[in-house]
Amino acid sequence: MRRIQLADNFTFSQFIQGYWRLLDWDLTPVQLVNFAKQHIELGVTTIDHADIYGDYECEAVFGQALKLAPELRQQIELVTKCDIKLVSDKNPQRQIGHYDTSAAHILASVDASLTNLNTDYIDVLLLHRPDPLMNADEVAEAFNQLQQAGKVRHFGVSNFTPMQFDLLQSRLTGKLVTNQVEFNPMNMQCSADGTFEHLQMHKVAPMIWSCLAGGRIFGEDSAQANRVRATLTQIAEEVGAGIDQVIYAWVLKMPCNPLPIIGSGNIKRIQTAVESSAIKLTNEQWFRVWVASNGHNVP
Ligand SMILES: NC(=O)c1ccc[n+]([C@@H]2O[C@H](COP(=O)([O-])OP(=O)(O)OC[C@H]3O[C@@H](n4cnc5c(N)ncnc54)[C@H](OP(=O)(O)O)[C@@H]3O)[C@@H](O)[C@H]2O)c1
Repeated sequence: MRRIQLADNFTFSQFIQGYWRLLDWDLTPVQLVNFAKQHIELGVTTIDHADIYGDYECEAVFGQALKLAPELRQQIELVTKCDIKLVSDKNPQRQIGHYDTSAAHILASVDASLTNLNTDYIDVLLLHRPDPLMNADEVAEAFNQLQQAGKVRHFGVSNFTPMQFDLLQSRLTGKLVTNQVEFNPMNMQCSADGTFEHLQMHKVAPMIWSCLAGGRIFGEDSAQANRVRATLTQIAEEVGAGIDQVIYAWVLKMPCNPLPIIGSGNIKRIQTAVESSAIKLTNEQWFRVWVASNGHNVP
């Protein structure tokens, strides 16, 4: 597995394991330890969480596994996120979902994540969604405090536009190490709105969420999904691989050094995902997917 350098003496595995759907996998703590060991064995050592996953429960379920197998902590890089405030039974006073990038919320959220994950440090903390009310100076102050306290080693963002990224970066002493964004054959926005060019320019590797469009590519009955699926099926035959592998190869062809986050809880699918890094698509194959997605030829 290729390792991608994000900062001095700090790397991610090229493929990352996403834990958003952890509760759907219905694993006992022992089964979860085995699952984590299996993907680590495949070289997938970077793990993506968020405070809100599973209605605020996924981090604690993972923390239980780390309690059972504390040796795993040294073998992984833990990513988690903050700033979304969900309407939830856990916060009955909240009337509406919203974002909160105040220093008080960031600091409290990290303390809760550390407790839930059963760890004393987070490798990378991401702001989950851009907040129109974000005061970049205040966020920078919170990040400094967290780093000085040894609670968080590196920082990044998710779903940020280039301007939002630059604003926050302009107030920080350290470099934002990633922008976690959606990119797949059903949603190519980041390749068209300057997001990927901006990251390539700054040598920041993006983490890519929902590479398989959350599984919609396999079953959705829409004109776009049907076109994309037909084209992927043809290319899969040409390169002798599965559709999912062609999609990962298509994502990996982007020159901005993308790091796909795998959403599956099925270890066989994780293995085939990892093996897709050996598949090299031609530019023409890449553009056939582009045409299928857009429903028209390039201008
Ligand atoms: N920053 C953000 O705003 C944000 C947003 C969303 C997600 N994320 C992160 O990105 C990670 C990945 O997102 P995602 O879960 O949407 O990824 P995804 O890979 O696009 O979708 C995963 C889903 O597709 C299904 N799937 C995979 N291969 C399949 C196949 N061959 N046939 C049919 N279904 C298949 C999986 O089911 P099985 O489990 O049965 O394989 C799973 O339900 C998340 O875990 C989370 O860490 C971040």
